[in-house]
Amino acid sequence: MELLKTKQLHNLLTPLLVLLFASLSFSFPTEPKGNRKWHMTSDIKEVADKAYDYIVVGGGTCGCPLAATLSRKFSVLLIERGGSPYGNPLIINKRYYGFPLVETDRYMSVAQSFISQEGVRNVRGRVLGGSSAINGGFYSRASEEFVTKVGWDKELVKESYEWVESKVVFSPWFLTPWQSVAEFSLLEAGFLPYNGFSLEHMKGTKISGSVFDEFGKRHTAADLLHEGNPNTLTVLVNATVKSIIFHHNGKKNETRAKGIRFIQSNGILDETHEAYIRKPKNSTSRGDVILAAGALGSPQILLLSGIGPKEQLKKFNIPLVLDMKEVGQGMQDNPCIAVLVDSKPQNRVPDPPQVVGITDDLKIIVESSILPQNFNATRVNFAAKLAMPSSKGMLELNNTDPRLNPSVKFNYLASENDMVECVKMTKLLDRIARSKSVALFLGESRQNKLTSFENDLRNFCKKNVRTIYHYHGGCRVGSVVDKHYKVFNVKGLRILDGSTFSESPGTNPMATLLMLGRYQGIKILREREANYDSNVKENP
Ligand SMILES: Cc1cc2nc3c(=O)[nH]c(=O)nc-3n(C[C@H](O)[C@H](O)[C@H](O)COP(=O)(O)OP(=O)(O)OC[C@H]3O[C@@H](n4cnc5c(N)ncnc54)[C@H](O)[C@@H]3O)c2cc1C
Ligand SMILES: *[C@@H]1O[C@H](CO)[C@@H](O)[C@H](O)[C@H]1NC(C)=O
Ligand SMILES: *[C@@H]1O[C@H](CO)[C@@H](O)[C@H](O)[C@H]1NC(C)=O
Ligand SMILES: *[C@@H]1O[C@H](CO)[C@@H](O)[C@H](O)[C@H]1NC(C)=O
Ligand SMILES: *[C@@H]1O[C@H](CO)[C@@H](O)[C@H](O)[C@H]1NC(C)=O
Ligand SMILES: *[C@@H]1O[C@H](CO)[C@@H](O)[C@H](O)[C@H]1NC(C)=O
Repeated sequence: MELLKTKQLHNLLTPLLVLLFASLSFSFPTEPKGNRKWHMTSDIKEVADKAYDYIVVGGGTCGCPLAATLSRKFSVLLIERGGSPYGNPLIINKRYYGFPLVETDRYMSVAQSFISQEGVRNVRGRVLGGSSAINGGFYSRASEEFVTKVGWDKELVKESYEWVESKVVFSPWFLTPWQSVAEFSLLEAGFLPYNGFSLEHMKGTKISGSVFDEFGKRHTAADLLHEGNPNTLTVLVNATVKSIIFHHNGKKNETRAKGIRFIQSNGILDETHEAYIRKPKNSTSRGDVILAAGALGSPQILLLSGIGPKEQLKKFNIPLVLDMKEVGQGMQDNPCIAVLVDSKPQNRVPDPPQVVGITDDLKIIVESSILPQNFNATRVNFAAKLAMPSSKGMLELNNTDPRLNPSVKFNYLASENDMVECVKMTKLLDRIARSKSVALFLGESRQNKLTSFENDLRNFCKKNVRTIYHYHGGCRVGSVVDKHYKVFNVKGLRILDGSTFSESPGTNPMATLLMLGRYQGIKILREREANYDSNVKENP
């Protein structure tokens, strides 16, 4: 690939970028400044023993837009184990990007850390807004090929992305100095063509959207709750769901989810409360319990509820509801290699990724950020993610406390294919880190080349593989849920979140999870409407 000279690029790109940013016609939503209309509570009494049309478990990236959409026509309980993101500067303020990950605790911190069986550190969100409240905020759609492959309705997908984007997604007015350097070094390393600003997933270098606005304020999935109906939406925080309540109809041989058991997140494990699915009078169709607890949370709740591999449930004395081997299977985490570009300790302002380089048939994705190492030191890094890895792992219970992590193993780089790609990624990162643009920024001479011996690079990969937090699977479509996200062989139970994916969509997954909550919410409303019409016709 031909390398363009940095200087020429500067000359070429600067006017182009100015033009580009000047012509962006994004709408900037006004932030609901403390005038929250929807009801948030942590008072168990307001919810215990009550019935709702829908119960959404997990107020995360997918759960919030889903609950908001369903509440337009039905009563909805959204139940979240963490607290509110509002008023927490570590979540809201871009200056503190990455800080929630620096210090975590077992039960309360907004980021819950977990370590995979192979020893790779990872985190998941534990707050209303879910992982969208602690992540890099990088927003990029899935490709059309992905949408076709999973069989979604293209038109509704587009409308749903646009709905999300009009509320919580922003285009940068300018790049930070470091993101500009990142952009130039990607181009220097041959990530071409240059695509300017775009929300689409495509080859080359581009600037993408962000959930951080022009004032450096984060908009989480929780902001989408403002689109719900405040009269029918109840948001219970600080409450952890323990299990699903089932009813078995022997005559029909039918198992139906009829509610949930939950505890106060800082309470006692045995002090359990219940909430139920309402049986409407004028319709034979009923709402669902919908798990949106994330790629670790949803398979964990299914297992704790008695749906999963029989032997595993027996080991933990959980009464069997349904023997389903696939629960917890197919866990994947995109392997990631990160290289630090600053050799000296720094204390810079954290800087989330805004620019991305995509190459190798969309298999390799490179982003860069400045992240806190601890409370007074930062590191500047480039991280390469392997999209579509073939290695798969599994999730199992480790205990029966829903607040603690299950055990998860991703089998990073177990397949030869993934290892070959990892070596490629490492070579690319090396080229980027040693670019003239980076050297210029750091005021250092260009760094030495990493080793180029294939064996050393393989070892480097093995030792340094880490996460880029795009883990998914565990309740995959076709294995645990059907294409309507309904759990096989159970009535009234769906799953909607990253656990249903067999592949992480797009450049990064958040955009598609936000979209999916909206998309499936509308699908469910349409399905109910069609059902209602047919009921009326049958029983006039
Ligand atoms: C540090 C980090 C950085 C990332 N950076 C980016 C990025 O820049 N761009 C991007 O696109 N993606 C990024 N990602 C990935 C992306 O954020 C996630 O893939 C996505 O948010 C997952 O959405 P989800 O709906 O599946 O789960 P989540 O958003 O995690 O939501 C699950 C929710 O369920 C709740 N929950 C779990 N169990 C229970 C229970 N038993 N009872 C009640 N509630 C429960 C959790 O507290 C959580 O709020 C990042 C992720 C992390 C962790
Ligand atoms: C949730 O719990 C946290 C920690 O105990 C507390 O600070 C917060 O006020 C609670 N949230 C609500 C809405 O009560
Ligand atoms: C069913 O009746 C309730 C009032 O009892 C009404 O609010 C609702 O719209 C009706 N459902 C449908 C689908 O018409
Ligand atoms: C960072 O701060 C801690 C105290 O908060 C201090 O002990 C430590 O020496 C500091 N480290 C650096 C590199 O300044
Ligand atoms: C739970 O996890 C710990 C730490 O990984 C491990 O030592 C232990 O064996 C696990 N227990 C079960 C029952 O899986
Ligand atoms: C009842 O349903 C389950 C799962 O749907 C099935 O495996 C089982 O064979 C059925 N039993 C009878 C008696 O039909």
